[in-house]
Amino acid sequence: MASNVQGFAYVKDRYLPLEDATIPVIDWGYRRSDVTYDVVTVWKGAFFQLDAHLARFRRSMKSLRLKPRESDDEIRTCLIECVRRSQLRDAYVAVDCLRGTPAAEKLSHPANADNYIIAFARPYVSIMSEDVQKRGTHLIVASAQRIASESVDPTVKNFHWGDLTQGAFEALDAGADGCVLLDRDKNVTEGPGYNVFSVVAGKVVTPNRGALEGITRMSVIELCADERIQCEVRPLPVSEFLQSDEIFITSSAGGIMPVSRINKTILCNDRPGPVSSHLRQRYWERREQGWHATPVDYDSVESS
Ligand SMILES: Cc1ncc(COP(=O)(O)O)c(C=O)c1O
Repeated sequence: MASNVQGFAYVKDRYLPLEDATIPVIDWGYRRSDVTYDVVTVWKGAFFQLDAHLARFRRSMKSLRLKPRESDDEIRTCLIECVRRSQLRDAYVAVDCLRGTPAAEKLSHPANADNYIIAFARPYVSIMSEDVQKRGTHLIVASAQRIASESVDPTVKNFHWGDLTQGAFEALDAGADGCVLLDRDKNVTEGPGYNVFSVVAGKVVTPNRGALEGITRMSVIELCADERIQCEVRPLPVSEFLQSDEIFITSSAGGIMPVSRINKTILCNDRPGPVSSHLRQRYWERREQGWHATPVDYDSVESS
């Protein structure tokens, strides 16, 4: 099959080229952000942490009372099939569960909508360019506060990105690459698309609440244990965060990304710090060795 660099999508039982995939404009997934999603990556022909992503996606759907027709195994097949059809060796693979729309004759309530899955594979994207990762990301602490966890549970992957988007624009205006949002108690939460880690005296800290339980974050916690680096998961007050020796951010779309500036403070001579660099190096080495990998069989016979 010819390679399609634009990618492939799955929408309501059908596979189609990504550019042809659409959703109805009246869908509550779009009109009300009534949707959850997950993003898993493929690198050198293998998924990373596929089962962990599927488990988190199912937890998110349960929490929002979304009940698509597909089982976890079927969703797994959809994702693999999107990658196989796209023939992409490095891919960004998204899966969404949308609320849908209640049928016209039914009460206009989310319980009456038919929920459904869409998925797609497109070429891999990183939230920070290779150049920025090499020199170290420049971050600011945004004035926009992270939406309260009591209102929108950040452990459920969601599209309520108003606060994160506001922070991203604050960063742009400040000439920075990204931002970190605080909660109302001035603890660090996360940034637009990434978790945050601080390093002090060789010890790694990441917030225990107010943030998505990132799969890369989980992998870093495992990596720290393997590398005998102490890692604490606990509240991270901004006062402590701003005294960090090193900072790094994590996302499926980029892996472990060192930070070299926070607000006006320069860290580690304006370069990625030793602990961040070591973890970043080990992360990619381990992935190369097949860590939590699910290889894609690109030659298998088409299913449907
Ligand atoms: C708000 C937010 N936090 C953290 C992350 C990192 O999560 P993961 O490592 O699972 O990609 C993401 C990923 O998109 C995100 O959107």
